[in-house]
Amino acid sequence: ACQQIPVICIDGPTASGKGTIAAAVAEALGYHLLDSGALYRITGLAASRAGLELDEANEETIAEMALDLPVRFGADQRVWLGDEDISLAIRTEQAGMNASRVSALPAVRAALVDLQLSFQQLPGLVADGRDMGTVIFPHAPLKVYLWASAQCRAERRYKQLISKGISANISTLLADLEARDARDMQRATAPLKPAEDSLQLDSSEMTIEEVVVQVLTWWQERQPFG
Ligand code: DC
Repeated sequence: ACQQIPVICIDGPTASGKGTIAAAVAEALGYHLLDSGALYRITGLAASRAGLELDEANEETIAEMALDLPVRFGADQRVWLGDEDISLAIRTEQAGMNASRVSALPAVRAALVDLQLSFQQLPGLVADGRDMGTVIFPHAPLKVYLWASAQCRAERRYKQLISKGISANISTLLADLEARDARDMQRATAPLKPAEDSLQLDSSEMTIEEVVVQVLTWWQERQPFG
């Protein structure tokens, strides 16, 4: 029955604009939104606060933490861990790097599967991540692989940080982003790669609105599914 609840998967590398696009598409369709990266970010935050090294030596301990994270998603993309609002804490570059580390641990990925599946609810779901189309929702009727050149993504991230009054350096951002891409693409479990049946979209020369319109158009072309 679950497969009749439509899912749109939006996968791709860091800073490709997935988060913004997924939120806009979900809003336009009145669908639920799964920000799967946030789950890895929260797990990374919880584990590093517990003083754990984020590597295989602590794989089982971190997986247990991931299994019963007291996490809640509120309005306006607010994220709560217990009664603490961690929306900002999980968005730092360091938190992204920590998320990438814990996400390479297979037991941690396994621990987060059921939580991710539980977001598939009527009238539909937009799921944003690295393995939404390849692993978590393999039967999704629309899978988009969204990317942009590394230079372009570094510039976008730079502008985003500067506009928030956070100082940043383009070449550091570019190096960090390439390191994270490499780890996400080369890990053994659920590596970042386009699903065979995905539609690829290079957003380097596109505005957010253009990308959203393209995804909504593809979705319309898919109706009715099955
Ligand atoms: O999308 P993001 O930057 O918030 O994701 C943070 C990290 O989490 C990313 O570097 C890799 C990992 N991740 C993952 O392995 N699988 C997902 N579905 C989403 C994120």
